[in-house]
Amino acid sequence: MLFPHLRIHQIYGANTDVGKTIFSTILCLTNAAAGNRVFYLKPVSTGSLVDSDHSHISRYRPHGSPIDPECIIRMNEPVSPHLAAQKARQVISDENLLGRMRDYFQKCAKRNNKLTGLGAVYVETAGGTLSPAPSGTTQADAYRPLRLPVVLVADSKLGGISTTLSAYETLHTRGYNIDVVLMFKDDYYQNHTYLERWFKEKNIPLTAFDPPPLRPPRNLDEKDEMNMKHYYAQTASTSDARRVVATLDMRHTDRVQTLETLPDRAASTFWYPFSQHKNIRSAQDLTVIDSAHKDVFTTAKSQPNNPSLLSPTFDGSASWWTQGIGHGNQQLAAVAANAAGRYGHVIFPLAVHEPAIELAERMLRTQGKAWASRVFFSDNGSTGMEVALKMALRKTAMLYPSGEKPDLEVLGLAGSYHGDTIGAMDACEGGVYNSAVEWYKGRGAWLETPTIGFEDGHLQLRLPWSDRQPRFSDVENAYNLSKRREGTLVERYRKHITSRIQELVSTGRRFGALVLEPLVLGAGGMKFVDPLFQAILVEVVRSSSHLLLPPTAKDATLPVIFDEVFSGLGRLGFATSTSVLGVKPDIAVYAKLLTGGLVPLAVTLASQSIFDVFIGDDKASALLHGHSYTAYPVGCAVANASLSMLEDLLRSDTFEEARREWSPSLRSMPDSERVDVAAPSSLWSRSFVKSLSTLPSINWAMSLGTVLAFEVKDTDRGALSGYGSSAAERALAPLKDFGYGAPPDALNMHLRTLGNVGYLITSLNSEKSMIRRLEGNLLHCLEAYSSHF
Ligand SMILES: Cc1ncc(COP(=O)(O)O)c(C=O)c1O
Ligand SMILES: *[C@@H]1O[C@H](CO)[C@@H](O)[C@H](O)[C@H]1NC(C)=O
Ligand SMILES: *[C@@H]1O[C@H](CO)[C@@H](O)[C@H](O)[C@H]1NC(C)=O
Ligand SMILES: *[C@@H]1O[C@H](CO)[C@@H](O)[C@H](O)[C@H]1NC(C)=O
Ligand SMILES: *[C@@H]1O[C@H](CO)[C@@H](O)[C@H](O)[C@H]1NC(C)=O
Repeated sequence: MLFPHLRIHQIYGANTDVGKTIFSTILCLTNAAAGNRVFYLKPVSTGSLVDSDHSHISRYRPHGSPIDPECIIRMNEPVSPHLAAQKARQVISDENLLGRMRDYFQKCAKRNNKLTGLGAVYVETAGGTLSPAPSGTTQADAYRPLRLPVVLVADSKLGGISTTLSAYETLHTRGYNIDVVLMFKDDYYQNHTYLERWFKEKNIPLTAFDPPPLRPPRNLDEKDEMNMKHYYAQTASTSDARRVVATLDMRHTDRVQTLETLPDRAASTFWYPFSQHKNIRSAQDLTVIDSAHKDVFTTAKSQPNNPSLLSPTFDGSASWWTQGIGHGNQQLAAVAANAAGRYGHVIFPLAVHEPAIELAERMLRTQGKAWASRVFFSDNGSTGMEVALKMALRKTAMLYPSGEKPDLEVLGLAGSYHGDTIGAMDACEGGVYNSAVEWYKGRGAWLETPTIGFEDGHLQLRLPWSDRQPRFSDVENAYNLSKRREGTLVERYRKHITSRIQELVSTGRRFGALVLEPLVLGAGGMKFVDPLFQAILVEVVRSSSHLLLPPTAKDATLPVIFDEVFSGLGRLGFATSTSVLGVKPDIAVYAKLLTGGLVPLAVTLASQSIFDVFIGDDKASALLHGHSYTAYPVGCAVANASLSMLEDLLRSDTFEEARREWSPSLRSMPDSERVDVAAPSSLWSRSFVKSLSTLPSINWAMSLGTVLAFEVKDTDRGALSGYGSSAAERALAPLKDFGYGAPPDALNMHLRTLGNVGYLITSLNSEKSMIRRLEGNLLHCLEAYSSHF
């Protein structure tokens, strides 16, 4: 939350008992003396009311002053909030606490009249930065979604320099901005001069104040009150105190100004990917992201119905499909910081470090189980695919008689996407993405694929080459290949694919690899491909060496590449795609989710027979490929950690429940048999996906894992279809700028569309309540849009 006329600061202490309340009081009094409206909030207070911090503020505010002290949660037990909550048997979730704080800030913003100038809210935390909130979450993490600018109170006691610097690091690495540091002076030790210099380098001013008078013995409370009154009156009127308040005002104004000018700076500086700049009508169309947490961006935009400049915006594309554990994940951030501290970046060829080896071994143990034996590192999905292509093409080329240099293409799927670098692009069918690129050749043949989706509430298989469109009784049956192998489609697929291959090679075309995205073709329009078709395709290709390879190839087969950049690692709710398809690739590529979306990294897994092709006497026969940041330790360490987290999430109760919802026969299956079952599931509710598919404006809707996709009917005839269409963007436009509901509960949505296909992607740990809310908003929006049909 950020109100132009009301600044909110959170007071964190480097330790408990460092003077947070005294400094809060000084700041309140100094602000009030300048005639500004001041609010003081202690979100959580424990211990008796008389001793509480907000009573302290009430006691020392001048008569008739505009200071309003308030407390949201008060517990009598004089212990840490998490213990007090336990003793009082109170369950106070972080969401609940933050929700109430947001309400409070809205109220303050309403009460602060902008004519009276810039008002201030001081929010005092309890204990040190990492002292627990009532839920048990450490405060710096619990309050992080608000990301209020910080007043850090340094520790002026024994060992205080160390605790203060630690507190700073804690807040800094969590994404907080620290506006000022305050502390008590000690004329003898002069600790503040050390800290002053240290913070000055960070451009953070530190101000040291005289300490309050010593507390007289217990029975002289009145004397103490007198002393303190005197102390406050003196301190609050010092030029130091006024300067601190002025600095806080200035940092606030700067922040507002920066956020307001970012769009113009962006519009005149950036060259955006995948964007027609002519269509940017106003810089105000750009999304200003102040920060992000879990599934939401905090975006800056003035909205007529919202006094706050910042509002939550759901990250509908999971930031281009990279996010799986949520933004700003502290565990991953800490792993990244640790690896950065330990190594920075180090060169990789013929070197080894723990993060790289542990990631590689983990990938072979999981995704590469029973087929892969080598791991090659690169930086992103496109280059991971380039590496895969180089591996596969060499393997195939070596099967031809020496001296022959066949012009090898790839066998791929219509509507596939493998990246935007020149080579990866060439392994895809020509489309809006690549056809306009001068060097694009499109070196491949593209097979049309059958797809699966709900239409009018029924799960439909769409065969692009046939009028007869079979139905499935349920998603669970569609993805159970061992069952479906008994059906008649197997033979039809086999015949169809074989005849396509015969047709292609009969015209003299030669292929170096089969390339496919398992289960879902992402960028090509979120096509949920029939898994049986992909399994049969792999089998047919492997049994068609006599057609696809030269006679010299003997018993070799055409290499099969799985591009799992989008669909792998749990994105679709499966631990591996091979467990669903029942076939294994020779090469597979992983990126995006690999690092939980924190840093770019890709790995290409290869089988022993692919690796062996590059073993020779001369350097030239090796795979001469590498990138500056190959296997960089930060990326590898983060990937190792995020893969652990993704594995845990796939085994979590949430996913077990989702599996039982989407695969009803699991309910009757004993737990012991459920291990390793590749049953389909989705975090989106089954009844919701079905109802979506019944709307008049929707052609089909489908979901697996975290992905929900649907195709919107085009209204204007003659409009470009597929990616060139803007049907989905038009249909979803009402969701972008406001949610349904009033601030602070309204939720904007940041959406990316693929022509007439709309989609939403969550993390694997998205809150259930959030997904239900998105479903509600989406239905609301598309129902209204359906009235045009
Ligand atoms: C299936 C697939 N392969 C490759 C890529 C390219 O990955 P990157 O954008 O990391 O280069 C993408 C990106 O969307 C993808 O979806
Ligand atoms: C800072 O000051 C205190 C006395 O207030 C002293 O005991 C302490 O050792 C000093 N130094 C550090 C490094 O904290
Ligand atoms: C990789 O992750 C595992 C936990 O799954 C952890 O025990 C190990 O220390 C990690 N390795 C590195 C190098 O970070
Ligand atoms: C992918 O990684 C390669 C290798 O580091 C780099 O050259 C390229 O710019 C990256 N491409 C994208 C699209 O990020
Ligand atoms: C697939 O169906 C068979 C029965 O044909 C059943 O035994 C098996 O458990 C099912 N597999 C999954 C993953 O549901």
